[in-house]
Amino acid sequence: MKKTISMVCLILSFAAFSASAAGIPPEQVTRPEGTEAFQGDRAELVAKGELLWNDKSVSDNGKKACVSCHKSATKMFKASFQDDYPHAVKMAKKKSKMAEVDAEQMVQFCMLAAMKNDDVLPWDSEELAALTAFTVDVIQKDYRAAKAK
Ligand code: HEC
Repeated sequence: MKKTISMVCLILSFAAFSASAAGIPPEQVTRPEGTEAFQGDRAELVAKGELLWNDKSVSDNGKKACVSCHKSATKMFKASFQDDYPHAVKMAKKKSKMAEVDAEQMVQFCMLAAMKNDDVLPWDSEELAALTAFTVDVIQKDYRAAKAK
């Protein structure tokens, strides 16, 4: 009996391990039907997004902010960031086999895959809307400007 239980445990833990190694299920980074993005004044969202971009409390362990990896206008970004969203991103292809992502999905991707958080930001949250607005209006613009030099 004991042997059977430990076999089952072994199989279950292997299944859990291979699920995590396989990546992120696309559903986890896809806006669930019936949810809507938080609506707010664009300039206010961008300002809040800037605070969050620099805020380590967005990571589960409080040790990483977006800026911890994206330290400059071009750091840790690839050429795909030039293109308007939605577009193909290597990380999304590798982790979820997704052909394209939009900007809010990319924020959610970095929350999970890069930050290693347990979950995405709530889909109707002001935080998600703010980080998305700041990413597109400021970070992507700065990236394009730096690349154009
Ligand atoms: C642990 C490092 C790390 C952290 C922290 C991180 N990122 Fe990223 N991010 C990456 C890497 C690596 C890529 C490149 C992915 C690719 O192009 O395949 C990336 C790419 C991106 C892109 C551009 C993708 C594209 O080409 O369109 C955006 C936007 C982005 N991250 C937003 C964020 C946001 C928002 C946060 C904070 C919630 C964040 N990142 C935190 C590592 C990180």
